[in-house]
Parts: sequence; structure tokens; C-alpha cells
Amino acid sequence: MRHQQNVIGTSKWELDTPCLVIAGDILKKNIQTMQAHVTACAKQIRPHAKTHKCSHIAQMQMEAGCTGICVAKVAEAEGLVEKGLQGVLITSPVVTDYKIERLMKCLSRDRELMVVVDNAGNAGKLNAAAEKHGLKLNVLVDLDPGMGRTGVPFSEGLALGKLIDNLPSLRLGGVQCYAGHVQHISSFAERSRASLDWMKQAAEVVGQFRASDLPCKIFTGAGTGTFEIDCRIPELTDLQVGSYTMMDAEYINIGSSQDPSRFTQFPPALTLLTTVISVNRPNFVTVDAGLKALYHHGGTPYVLNPSGSGLQYEWFGDEQGRIITSNSSPKLSLGKVLELVVSHCDPTVNLFDVLYVVRNEIVTDIWPIDLRGKCQ
Ligand SMILES: Cc1ncc(COP(=O)(O)O)c(C=O)c1O
Repeated sequence: MRHQQNVIGTSKWELDTPCLVIAGDILKKNIQTMQAHVTACAKQIRPHAKTHKCSHIAQMQMEAGCTGICVAKVAEAEGLVEKGLQGVLITSPVVTDYKIERLMKCLSRDRELMVVVDNAGNAGKLNAAAEKHGLKLNVLVDLDPGMGRTGVPFSEGLALGKLIDNLPSLRLGGVQCYAGHVQHISSFAERSRASLDWMKQAAEVVGQFRASDLPCKIFTGAGTGTFEIDCRIPELTDLQVGSYTMMDAEYINIGSSQDPSRFTQFPPALTLLTTVISVNRPNFVTVDAGLKALYHHGGTPYVLNPSGSGLQYEWFGDEQGRIITSNSSPKLSLGKVLELVVSHCDPTVNLFDVLYVVRNEIVTDIWPIDLRGKCQ
């Protein structure tokens, strides 16, 4: 892990850039807000670590009362199990022999580990592997909410559930349905309609499981964009929310139940610091954060600090970005540090080794992004 030495206790404005900072108090508040919301709805959260990729934050979420942690990949599960976290859910199918062996190793250390399945042949392979190792593997049927990424159509959920229930080394836990394609629909009303439509169909599959006496303790799904909406589904047990911890421009620019044009309930805890490195043009300055420091997909990063100045970030290649200035914006001299809200938090976090934790602009800690790059 590479990071700047001797920065604890110094001002965040003195950090070497580009770098990621996390406002410790906002992060804590976001975790508490989500936990309080789901508790009031008699649900739980199973937050997704794909966003922060940081076992320290996963631990904070566990301490705040979540029911378990989601990951997308076996390598991320290995990282969390290594740190002693239990009950990890892998939200993407694990299909190759090599990965299944790694999964079994994780399972031997976390007996509550779960994985989703969307294929009968894959269920058979997982069963054979668990049997060989003398283990029982918890599985959820992955339901496809019309996105087509993974999952079986709703009409095939029950049949796959029955097949899994008959495999002696698999333990059927229920279903997963994550509607990623609706999370960023700009209009809150439209997002509500779309999400409820898909999630009600998933809830019908839960009803079929129960009518057939199939185990179905878990119906997990939902993201930050639908955190309020999906709680209206009585069968849903837990929310797999991820981005709410850190937030990004892509989420902040959609409507919410509070404001038709902004998502206000979770302020951005994550920001990126970038330095002005060239000032030779009249209408913009060049900064040291480009595509290798800010993930391109998602929203456009925006300038948080200096605030209210009408400064605009524009993509400017691999290593640099540019900040468009106007007559009314403050003069940005060489070496000036700006603070940006990032475009898309998950893949941006994956570009860095550490998060500098700040409180009142002072660096108080450094957390390794220890699941960074664990994409296998
Ligand atoms: C399966 C799954 N669950 C949950 C999430 C978290 O969603 P969000 O970051 O919108 O809260 C994701 C994000 O892509 C996901 O793929």
C-alpha cells in the first residue's frame, strides 16, 4: 500500500494529489441514516462492499447493525473473510472450477457464506464441490429483473429453487433480485413505478417458494436509488445498498423523494483533491486528475470547493482534467487545490490505494482500500 507519510494531523489541503478523501463524520451519518431507515421499515441492510472496497468501512457497517456484507467477486469475499467478517454474500455467479475451489476455501472459514446461482448446471457443480469438501453452501436463486445481466427469468425461479433444494450439499436461502437498470432513473416517480413493477414480480416468486414449502428466509435486492421505494415490498428482507456511503455526481443529480432534481438524503462523503498544474489559457486551467484518477462513466465530476463559483470540470485525457473558469469565478493560481465530487464512486475508489479520512479538514486516519483491484 503506497501512501503519503506523516500526514495525520495536517490539513487535507496539504495532501499530495490527486487523492481521495473521506469525510469521516458524513460517512458515519450516511451509515446511520440508512440503518435507521431500514430499521423503521422493519427491514435489514446487507450493504455492498463493491462501492467502498474497504474492509474498515465494512466493519463499521457491521457495527452499525447490518445483517451481512455483499461482494461482487470471490476475491473480495476472500479479502473480507481474511479480516474475520462472516455471512458474506457473493452477488454474482461463481462458475469456473478454479473459482469454485477458492469459494470452498472461503466457505471453510465462513460457514455462513452465500452465493447466487442462476443455472442448474452451476448448482450441480457447486453441490459436488461442497460435498467433496464436506461442507454445506448457502445459495440464493438470482432473479433477472429484465436487465439480462445475470439471473433467471421470474417464470423459472421456482424450478431452479426446487432443483437446489434437492441437492444435499446446498442450502437454499431464498432469492436475490437487483434491478440495477432502474437505480438512476432521474424522475423519482418513474423510478418508483419501474422498481415496484420488477420487485413485485420477484415477490411473487417468493410467494411461490412459500406455497411449495421451499426455504426462503431471504429476499435481498435494492440499491441506493430505490432505498425508500423497495421498502414498500413486504416480502423484501434486506437492501443491498452500496453507494449511499460515499455518493457521487451520478447519484446526486437524480431526483429523490425530497427534491425533484437532487438526491439529498446522503451527502457526498467521498471527494477527490486535485491541483492546478497549468494556467496559461484564459478560459480554463489544467488540473492533475484525469481518466486515471476519476472514472469516466457516470456523471461529470463537479467542483465542491471552492464552492458557489461556477467552476466546471471537463474531461481532458488520461492524466489531466480542465476546470472551465469565467469572469465571475475566483482566480485559480498554479498549485491551488480543488475538491471534486467524483463521477461514479465504485470504479473511482478502485483506482486508489488509500482513503484519507478527514474531520474538520484535518487528516485523522488513513484506511487502505484493501479490496481494490480484487476483480477476480
Ligand atoms: C448486485 C448489486 N447489488 C447492489 C448494488 C449496490 O447498488 P448502489 O450502489 O446503487 O447502492 C449493486 C451495484 O451495482 C449491485 O450490482
